[in-house]
Amino acid sequence: MNTPASLSLPSSCDILVFGGSGDLALHKLLPALYHLHRENRLPADTRIFALARSQRDNAAYLELAERNCRVQVARSDFSAEAWRSFAQRLQYVAMDASQSADFGRVAKALKRSEGRVLVHYLATAPSLFAPIAQNLKIAGLAGPLARIVLEKPLGHSLESALAINQAIGEVFDESRVFRIDHYLGNETVQNLMALRFANTLFEPVWRNGPIDHVQITVSETLGVENRGGYYDHAGAMRDMVQNHLLQLLCLIAMDPPADLTADSIRDEKVKVLRALEPIAPEQLATRVVRGQYTAGYIDGKAVPGYLAEENANTNSDAETFVALRVAIRNWRWSGVPFYLRTGKRMPQKLSQIVIHFKEPPHYIFAPEQRSLISNRLIIRLQPDEGISLQVMTKDQGLGKGMQLRTGPLQLNFSETFQTARTPDAYERLLLEVTQGSQNLFVRKDEIEAAWTWCDGLIDGWGRLGEEPKPYPAGSWGPQAAVALIARDGRDWYGDL
Ligand SMILES: NC(=O)c1ccc[n+]([C@@H]2O[C@H](COP(=O)([O-])OP(=O)(O)OC[C@H]3O[C@@H](n4cnc5c(N)ncnc54)[C@H](OP(=O)(O)O)[C@@H]3O)[C@@H](O)[C@H]2O)c1
Repeated sequence: MNTPASLSLPSSCDILVFGGSGDLALHKLLPALYHLHRENRLPADTRIFALARSQRDNAAYLELAERNCRVQVARSDFSAEAWRSFAQRLQYVAMDASQSADFGRVAKALKRSEGRVLVHYLATAPSLFAPIAQNLKIAGLAGPLARIVLEKPLGHSLESALAINQAIGEVFDESRVFRIDHYLGNETVQNLMALRFANTLFEPVWRNGPIDHVQITVSETLGVENRGGYYDHAGAMRDMVQNHLLQLLCLIAMDPPADLTADSIRDEKVKVLRALEPIAPEQLATRVVRGQYTAGYIDGKAVPGYLAEENANTNSDAETFVALRVAIRNWRWSGVPFYLRTGKRMPQKLSQIVIHFKEPPHYIFAPEQRSLISNRLIIRLQPDEGISLQVMTKDQGLGKGMQLRTGPLQLNFSETFQTARTPDAYERLLLEVTQGSQNLFVRKDEIEAAWTWCDGLIDGWGRLGEEPKPYPAGSWGPQAAVALIARDGRDWYGDL
């Protein structure tokens, strides 16, 4: 998704990271900003302010930031010289974002803000979004050149998302609101747009005639780590499906947009979200599987179950896994199931979309070869970003007759483009915010449509008192998830 030509880097910019000492800031945002700085991609006169409550002086913050960046950035990309010049841009301000009075201190730290683009990046809990927006307004830091970036999760339900959108909208008009779903900054996700809309090859077959079904898997080997408090109230449905998985589904299922402007793209995505068939409580048993990991092994190492994690709520019924059979009610996708699954403590860290095409309508090869899988398009977000089209070919050799085999037409990005490194999604997203391009951000109505669909399903669980099914860490989820797809005569692609 290119940046429209009219958008360009401003000459001066201030980036304020609220929650500047948190995990997200230290592990993702600052390393991304460091890369952008090192590659001269930031506006020349960019300043970065890290804001958090803890009292520490600037030197202590810079040390903390450097220590984390050294871990996150590849050794070959970290240079002491580049860090020194980056650190000159970086300043820590101790403040409490819930206190209006503290914003005076922020304004004072900024000193000159006239004519500068102001990016307020809210890497904090969503409960602070509305107070921060209000406080920015009071402090005069929400003028026409100010933009606000909201991290996910945007709320906990439709109701809370509406309240946040309303509060933000009272201060920032929609063209200045950037809601993050970092999957949208992924290089392969953008390549999916190029693949679909820059080639005539795919569009005619991108529909319910030739496509049998679609699978989207986002799996992690990690458990809940130190996010138990948050996760207990969220679960995989709110933490992953409501945002990342539905966004991926939209990019696969959307119609071609009229152009590459943010609104054209988002208009098409929101149509998909509104066409999602609601899953009624009586359909939950056959259409959705909730799971929670128990003790098991990851890479041969014993790991505890969810309820035995440090600081766990031992009565928690949060799901750490969810698998769904989703239908889209429109002409293009009628009759094509989308199987979605995501989970923690799975055998592999993987984000992958697999489009399964139907068998040829008339089969002329030996009947015993029919069991060979027909065409699949595999879009891999991680690891090894790339796109692979599985096609049937004939085995080479005189003795092979017309023996068929499946082989890949492969596009591995790091090999093909010989680039030194694939930029992290946050680099692209931060750059797009400074340029004012909203293509890779989620619009208000998209968030609301996604919550509407998810809330219906979550309410159904509540009404049925449905408990998550246990699955051992290191497996691909509860057996019921295998049954979910097997009932339709299919199986999950690539499970070992
Ligand atoms: N970590 C990730 O990779 C990730 C990924 C996607 C989304 N997110 C979301 O991003 C948000 C932040 O996540 P995180 O993991 O970075 O959380 P975290 O590690 O708990 O960090 C929270 C940050 O906010 C600051 N803070 C808390 N209350 C504050 C207040 N009243 N005023 C000013 N600063 C305040 C904290 O510093 P003080 O305690 O010193 O104030 C800290 O810097 C969460 O909503 C999370 O769900 C995180």
